[in-house]
Amino acid sequence: MFKNSYFILRYFTICIVFGSNTAVSFAQDTAKMDAIYSGVPWFDQNGNIVSAHGANIIKELDTFYLFGESHTDTSNAFAGFNCYSSKDLYNWKFESVALPAQESGKLGPNRVGERVKVMKCPKTGEFIMYMHADSLTYKDQFVGYAVSKEIKGPYVFKGPLLFQGKPIKKWDMGTFQDDDGSGYVLVHGGEIYKLSDDFTSVTEKVNENITSGFESPTLFRKDDIYYFIGSHLTSWEKNDNYYYTSISLKGPWISQGLVAPENTLTWNSQSTFVLPIQGLKETTYMFMGDRWSFPKQASSATYVWQPLSIAGTSVSMPKFQEAWRINTSTGVVTIVENKDIIIKNTNEEIQYLGKWIHTDNGNMLLESKSDDKNASFSIKFKGQQIGLTSFVGPENGYAKVVLTDKKGNTMYTAIIDMYSKSSDLVQVFKSPILKKNNYELIVSVTGERPNWSDKKKANYGSTGNTISLHQITIKK
Ligand code: DGJ
Repeated sequence: MFKNSYFILRYFTICIVFGSNTAVSFAQDTAKMDAIYSGVPWFDQNGNIVSAHGANIIKELDTFYLFGESHTDTSNAFAGFNCYSSKDLYNWKFESVALPAQESGKLGPNRVGERVKVMKCPKTGEFIMYMHADSLTYKDQFVGYAVSKEIKGPYVFKGPLLFQGKPIKKWDMGTFQDDDGSGYVLVHGGEIYKLSDDFTSVTEKVNENITSGFESPTLFRKDDIYYFIGSHLTSWEKNDNYYYTSISLKGPWISQGLVAPENTLTWNSQSTFVLPIQGLKETTYMFMGDRWSFPKQASSATYVWQPLSIAGTSVSMPKFQEAWRINTSTGVVTIVENKDIIIKNTNEEIQYLGKWIHTDNGNMLLESKSDDKNASFSIKFKGQQIGLTSFVGPENGYAKVVLTDKKGNTMYTAIIDMYSKSSDLVQVFKSPILKKNNYELIVSVTGERPNWSDKKKANYGSTGNTISLHQITIKK
């Protein structure tokens, strides 16, 4: 939350002078992101965590609109679908709850709503939203839809999308709009359904089931090849996503292997959409994945957005790009070289409180770690941006991060998930770029961890509450 009293004072001053909309742009102008940073919390123009999972993006004129699941940290019940907008794909402005939780019915209390996707119908010009609707126990699933004349909503929920008069009783779903404007709904396993001209019903089942599992179906086209990505069935846990290619939506679909190197668990994410970013020079295909974090899906689930390398029938993300830029006019990608100052975990500028273990994981991979609920570390710094790099692993839990200004006013807070089924050394926090000034970052053990069980009562998640620090990075 954006709690800095200086900003609040400015907010009200500016609101009185210019009206409330100006305050929003003030916050945005103050602290901006300059690249796409995967796996770290993103803040909207109000300093709130961006909550838009199972998402897709559509472009209208020069603006990208992101639609995704709104979450809470307390329950998996449907909390609405959010809409954000951006011109650069780095900074996201909260626009609306495009489809709120309904008072009753299939997206009412104690229901699930997931994997929201929006497409513009070329014939009617309307925006049609599709989703997976279900009971909280995942036993009443179907593909539903909602409609709106305006992209930001409000969308009106219409119920199940019908094929031959019946709902499509499947859970994970996605959408795909072909080059000729035709719309398709995809469901887990690989079935593809063609939409009617008005996008509100199904006319044809274009493709049969390809394989079992294949959740989070994600389809895109480059030239004459269709690429169909999906995940294994492991609840909220990440796994190695895989893909097929075909020259027709009807198949045959040829298995092509993994999207990212084996055991990286798709760089610790699950596919949800691929956005073609068409520029004057190039078209970049951006993989969008979710790094789920149950139960704190609102605070701690993050986004893994990576440029895809595509050559013929091969699609890959050979290297995890911590930070990269996309020029939305040219479509050209640049990888950001980190030139920040590095402060190692043992640097005396870092103040440790409580019980910490300072270890050497080999090859100078130093780590400070703790699972003591009273433990924290902090650093006072002068600069514009601060980042944290930590070891994530199967025994790690949630860390609380608080960034304050020199007067001690809280500017940003976040709960960071340091759990990962496979161990890794990654950036877990990156603040927005601030006015060059004096700040303090305080990171503490919460004593909590992500863990959950699925509908078959299988247990997943972390076995400990450890938080870790490898190094702090500061942009001066
Ligand atoms: C995996 C799916 O891809 C998610 O959308 C969600 O339904 C979880 N399963 C629930 O366990």
